[in-house]
Amino acid sequence: PLKLGIMASGSGSNFEAVAQAIDDKQLNAQIQVLIYNNPAAKAASRAAKRGIETVLLNHREYKNREVFDQKIVQTLREYDVEWLILAGWMRVVTSVLIDAFPDRIINIHPSLLPSFKGIHAVEQALKAGVKITGCTVHLVRLEVDSGPILMQAAVPILPDDTAETLHARIQVQEHRILPQAIALAAQANLITHVSVSGIG
Ligand code: GAR
Repeated sequence: PLKLGIMASGSGSNFEAVAQAIDDKQLNAQIQVLIYNNPAAKAASRAAKRGIETVLLNHREYKNREVFDQKIVQTLREYDVEWLILAGWMRVVTSVLIDAFPDRIINIHPSLLPSFKGIHAVEQALKAGVKITGCTVHLVRLEVDSGPILMQAAVPILPDDTAETLHARIQVQEHRILPQAIALAAQANLITHVSVSGIG
């Protein structure tokens, strides 16, 4: 099984979707640890309920992003994490984290990238007046919300949508594609690895 670390800042519904996919044997993985940065994050109680270890790392207690990420890397190593999933992680990550897990960090974003990067992606799509938006699962690179796209799902914007109703509709798709994309990334990584060593 893949050894996953999950990082979340909020409600943790995507964390829950990954945990559920593992329970349902749709994803061959185990969650080594949930790292959360907001003491109030509901993700933590979801993890506790499932008997998954949690670590609170509060970014406010670190002097800059690099020092914070160094602590994250140390924690992920302690828990023997191989793949890192950003499931509603609302902090910009630095090269300290990215270089520690090359091509093994996966993010979920609530828009069809490259449209509507950054925060408030759902509101941005509503404001722009597009009729279709969605969600994207991608590998994390230094530039925010860039990086190779693994999976996307489209979601229609309806005339009466508010940010809340639209986000809820997007999240249904997020919960479906995030576990699938994790499996896909792991598989692709394995194939690359095997073929490279096969040539050598
Ligand atoms: C998700 O919709 C995710 O796409 C978004 O935060 C939400 C977290 O929900 N992520 C971002 O906006 C990243 N910039 P959850 O805590 O219920 O999984």
